[in-house]
Amino acid sequence: MSELNIPWQSSADIRRKFVEFFESKGHLHVPSSSLVPHNDRTVLLTTAGMQQMIPYFLGLETAPAERMCSIQKCFRTVDIDEVGDESHSTFFFMLGNFSVRDYFKAESLVWSWEFLTEWMGIPPEVLYPTVHPEDEEARNIWLNSIGVPEARVSGLDDNWWQAGPVGPNGPDSEIYVNRGPSFEGDVPGDDGPRFLEVWNNVFMQYNTDQDGVRTPLAKPCVDTGMGFERLVLLLQGGRTMYDTDLYSGIIGKIQELSGVTYDVDPQSTRSIRIIADHLRGATFLIGDGVLPGNEGRSYVLRRVLRKAIRHGRLIGLTGPFAEQIAQVVIDQFGGDYPELRDREAQILKVLRYEETSFSKTLTSGVNRLQTLTAELKASGTTEIPGEEVFRLYDTFGFPYDLTAELAQEEGLTIDSVGFTTAMERQRVTSRSADRFKAASNERSGIYASIQPRTEFLGYEHLRSESTIVALIGPDGPVEQVEAGQEIEVVLDRTPFYGESGGQVGDTGDIRTETGLINIDETRKPAPDLFVHRGIVAEGFIAVGDSAHAIVDGIRRQGIRRNHTATHLLHKALRMVIGPEAHQAGSLVAEDRLRFDFTSLDAIPASDMRTIAEIVNREIGSDTPVTTTVTPYKEAVAKGAMALFGEKYGDVVRLVEIDEFSQELCGGTHVGRTGEIGPFVITSESSVAAGTRRIEALTGNAAIERMLGQQRVLDELGRELKVSWVEVPTQIQAMQDRSRTLEREIDRLRGQLAGAKSEDLLQQAIEVNGIRVVTSRVEVESKDGLRQLADRLRDSLQSGVIALGAIVDGKPSLLIAVTADQVAAGIKAGDIVRQAVVHIDGRGGGRPELAEAGGKNPEGLDAALEAVSGIVSGYAL
Ligand code: SER
Repeated sequence: MSELNIPWQSSADIRRKFVEFFESKGHLHVPSSSLVPHNDRTVLLTTAGMQQMIPYFLGLETAPAERMCSIQKCFRTVDIDEVGDESHSTFFFMLGNFSVRDYFKAESLVWSWEFLTEWMGIPPEVLYPTVHPEDEEARNIWLNSIGVPEARVSGLDDNWWQAGPVGPNGPDSEIYVNRGPSFEGDVPGDDGPRFLEVWNNVFMQYNTDQDGVRTPLAKPCVDTGMGFERLVLLLQGGRTMYDTDLYSGIIGKIQELSGVTYDVDPQSTRSIRIIADHLRGATFLIGDGVLPGNEGRSYVLRRVLRKAIRHGRLIGLTGPFAEQIAQVVIDQFGGDYPELRDREAQILKVLRYEETSFSKTLTSGVNRLQTLTAELKASGTTEIPGEEVFRLYDTFGFPYDLTAELAQEEGLTIDSVGFTTAMERQRVTSRSADRFKAASNERSGIYASIQPRTEFLGYEHLRSESTIVALIGPDGPVEQVEAGQEIEVVLDRTPFYGESGGQVGDTGDIRTETGLINIDETRKPAPDLFVHRGIVAEGFIAVGDSAHAIVDGIRRQGIRRNHTATHLLHKALRMVIGPEAHQAGSLVAEDRLRFDFTSLDAIPASDMRTIAEIVNREIGSDTPVTTTVTPYKEAVAKGAMALFGEKYGDVVRLVEIDEFSQELCGGTHVGRTGEIGPFVITSESSVAAGTRRIEALTGNAAIERMLGQQRVLDELGRELKVSWVEVPTQIQAMQDRSRTLEREIDRLRGQLAGAKSEDLLQQAIEVNGIRVVTSRVEVESKDGLRQLADRLRDSLQSGVIALGAIVDGKPSLLIAVTADQVAAGIKAGDIVRQAVVHIDGRGGGRPELAEAGGKNPEGLDAALEAVSGIVSGYAL
């Protein structure tokens, strides 16, 4: 009997009654969805029963029923640091009923009341409903339809519920239970333990979009959530949820293993609660496929696990205990959550590994932290430097939050910015250095000794069930790797294509029961050895483990397109250029292809067009592509093209594109040429003497390129105010016009210069009977100066011309002397050399024409003025 005078009932009974009650109200009992949300990538973990309902509420998907109920596994990280006290937890179950555009407030509230009072036997007088202050409808239902006295119904401003910044939301009505005066607290909503919120009825009336705009839903929905642990606590009459049968088995096991009694010493009680909550949650997380690691959900799992392990050590649990606690959890909940049974072996294995691996460094890490704490305190500092926090993370496997917690216990803070910087620095260094290269000589020896060799399945399959044959780290073979480490993996059989014959290697995932490796490179150091390289993203992996190897199929499809297109291009090229065009290398990637071939000359544009047409025509015919393994002689008899520089054994793989092309090739190809999609050549260029290169795109990459070109053409058309088809004609017309204008400008310049020279002649003065023209003029180049001088000399017939100009900011001087005056002894070079001193420069030339440039523009007038004097100095 509880304090509330309710007969004790088991959590299993309560669960069963909840489902029965809502089934009696026409609800479909839907299974709990996974803790890893499938339909919402923005959410780390499932935190409420309504999460799987969101697409139904928004009308994006059709619900299996309009009325549903569930008992959802939930994991919330918000209170993770609070766990250990009486009420906070990470993992919990949520009972919920949902209406997808069916019933609304009246039914929902009446049923909540009926279930709590009649089915659960909670006395009505301890129930205190709250409503949103503006929700008169809900208030009325409580007061008038259900008959709760006014004094027990209150309005709470924060009675509004929404899963995140975006999504369905609306006012809610929360039901509190008054647990009596032995608990602290005064009113519902004050967060004290006396008034315990047990059930939340949310009336989904709105949706908030990315921009924060709230719009009403076409028809409202209902989402209710009742914390199962709380309900069980009320009905079983304990003080905290740890006093219920949901935890008794787990806590009993912890007591048994440690010899420590729960609820005696506050410190060890806190540790026991942390172990119980965290290991129950961890068991369910692994049951849903989460593996420990350093990011996202994997990090959450690692964090709770390592914290539980540390608290286990604090209460004297020295051996591997986590798996024993998990076993209790699996036995208790495996019936309702069959995934726990399905993954039982995996759960236990992961826990054992994580505990063993962390235990190795836990003690030394704690010692290190203690020394550090003493040093810091002695030096009067209260912050642990980021570098040290990183060292604890990197060397001792202390999740950041664990260090933060330990620091807090010592009254210290940690430098989170410094930690992030140290972490980033390590990322950059490990990315920039190919740590595998260092030992590359020894690697060939390692590769040679690996047995068994690899069977390649990638022609038929993108997935395989394989076994891990070898793991090779930067320093050589290892037995085991864990999250965060870079590794090379050899499998007994693989669907991953190893880079060869110009075709890039596959990428994808290798997943085992306990770990996940993201593969970003596959090579083939020997014909029968495939080496996959990647980073362990989650968990751990050991030699001998069974593994699923999964190739990135979308990327592979791109590669297949480009490879078959390369064969088509090769053939088309030989058809157009002639058989002397030999392949000299190629690259077949997922987004492009490159083909090198022998040719002395550039390929004319018209030939390139023909080649592209032939390839696209073959694609359009959707010709089947077949591969056969055949004796070399037969392949050659069929006219197969053997790739340049490759060696073939007796048996070869012949890739035939019907009658069109036959090539010996080990690569992966499309089934029919139609799969290639459009083929576009993007360039034809020279790579070396006698070697040309064609680059091309297929499929989506080709479409994107064409669309990009179209966008540019449209843009040009808009600028030129013509349709895109007319752009070339319009540009031609503009170029013609600009040529006409240039000619016109030249003509006018000539005219202008003529007029100018006339002017200057007028200004000629006589010195010793010699006509001298001196002028400072404006020209754009020295050439302009020369042209003007030529013209003046013709008109002047006899005399000396001195012209000066500033060209590009520098003074320029030109002296021209007519032939008769040269004959009389006047030399342009002499004049220039004397005048040039004014412009601080140098010059010289022939007797008829001399030029000088200087550094002092200010002296230009003086230089010109000096000319008459120099001429007068000639004693003729
Ligand atoms: N979504 C609400 C909650 O989580 C009711 O289910 O409290």
